This record gives sequence, C-alpha cells and structure tokens, in this order.
Amino acid sequence: MAQLAVNVDHVATLREARGINYPEPVAAAIAAETAGADGIVVHLREDRRHINERDVRLIRQIVQSKLILEMAATSEMLGIALDVKPDTVTLVPEKREELTTEGGLDLITHQNHVRETVSTLKNAGIAVCIFIDPDLDQIKTAHKIDADMIEIHTGAFCDAATGNQRKREFARIVDAAKIGHKLKLEVNAGHGICYNTIKSFKGLNEITEFSIGHSIVSRAVLTGMEQAVRDMKELISGL
Ligand code: PXP
Repeated sequence: MAQLAVNVDHVATLREARGINYPEPVAAAIAAETAGADGIVVHLREDRRHINERDVRLIRQIVQSKLILEMAATSEMLGIALDVKPDTVTLVPEKREELTTEGGLDLITHQNHVRETVSTLKNAGIAVCIFIDPDLDQIKTAHKIDADMIEIHTGAFCDAATGNQRKREFARIVDAAKIGHKLKLEVNAGHGICYNTIKSFKGLNEITEFSIGHSIVSRAVLTGMEQAVRDMKELISGL
C-alpha cells in the first residue's frame, strides 16, 4: 500500500488569517499521525505566509513518523534545513506572487545549482526529493544529479478541465512513475489530489507515497463542524 504524507500548511493558513495563535499546526500534525499518517509535510515559504520557523522546529520535535520539509533551493532555506534536519527535503520552485506551487522545479535550467543543494543535504544525512513535472528529461536529470526521490507534480491532472485533458495528463504521470521507478528513484506524487482524484491512482504501484494537504484540511474543517458547534452550544447553555 502506498504511504500518505499529510501537509499541514493550511492549518497555519487559518491561523495566519487572524494573526493569532490557533489553530495549531503542531496539534494537526499529532492528530494526523494518530490517524495513521506516514509523514508530516510543511512548506516553509520565503514569505512565511503559513508555516513559520517555530512550527518547523516544534513539528521536528514531536513528529514520530517523518518530517518532510518543502523548500526552495535558497541559501536561507538550506541553512534552516541543515539546522533542523528534517528526514527529507523536497525541493520546490517558489514564486512570491503564486497562490500555491505552480509547477515542478525546472532541473534542466537549474541543474548545477540544484545538484549542489542535493549534495549538501545528502552529506548532512537528509534524503532529497525533487518536485518535478511528469517529463522524461526532468526525471532523467533528477537521476543524474543524484536525487533520492522525485515527487511528480499531479496538479495539471487534478485541475484538468476536460476528460480528454485529464486522460492525457494521467498518461504522463503513469509514464513518469514508470521511468522514475526504472531509474531506481523513489517515486512520490502530489499537488491537488482530492478524495475523488486519488481513485485514479489505483494499480499505479510505482508510487511510494502521496503528499496531500488542502483536500484533507478542507475535509477536516467540515467533518469537525458539527462537533465544534455542539461544543459551543453546550458552553452557551451553561452560561
Ligand atoms: N507537494 C508539493 C511539492 C506541494 O508544494 C504541495 C502544496 O504545498 C503539495 C504536495 C500538496 O498539495 P495540496 O495541498 O494541493 O494537496
């Protein structure tokens, strides 16, 4: 069975919407592990729009499965990763103005810089995953620069507007997973996967782990709503 790494960024997004100290992403990480998550993912962005350094350090301390730190290959982030020592770093591209990560890292363009980052992280005992589009040349380059794993960007598939586009994008993911597996890279997948799109991956056994955040946090908000309202009603009834 494939593993599930749960991204808790958007618990921090809710917190930051109010600029207060809840909801607590650390508590979400503990709850996710209690429910069977095989890993906890946080993306420390340059602008700290959701997860901050304090969250990463606390989650590092409490996580019992593994901590996967998503980050851009900048010197600031590299310094933090070497200090915090997550189990895995996933290298992602990052644009300040984007709503979420918009595409895979372009390894053809940034090969030399990323190779250096991969080597530094691996020498520190941190496994390195690279978030890339399902593209043959990108995958071959990930292998060439000695990454341990790739995470295939599933966003174009999950967000496809038509059935044909969805089919075409899924075929790219299947090819990418098979090529990555053949090259002995661990193959993961993530971005935009929800309770519907996950079903398409049945039988694609080359995928070791799914990295999922937004759909899980979104469902948690709704499945927890009735209890949350009951709890407040009870408090009000005791006034
Ligand atoms: N993988 C990577 C590399 C990401 O950047 C993200 C989004 O932070 C995810 C997976 C999770 O995507 P989603 O929140 O859409 O499940």
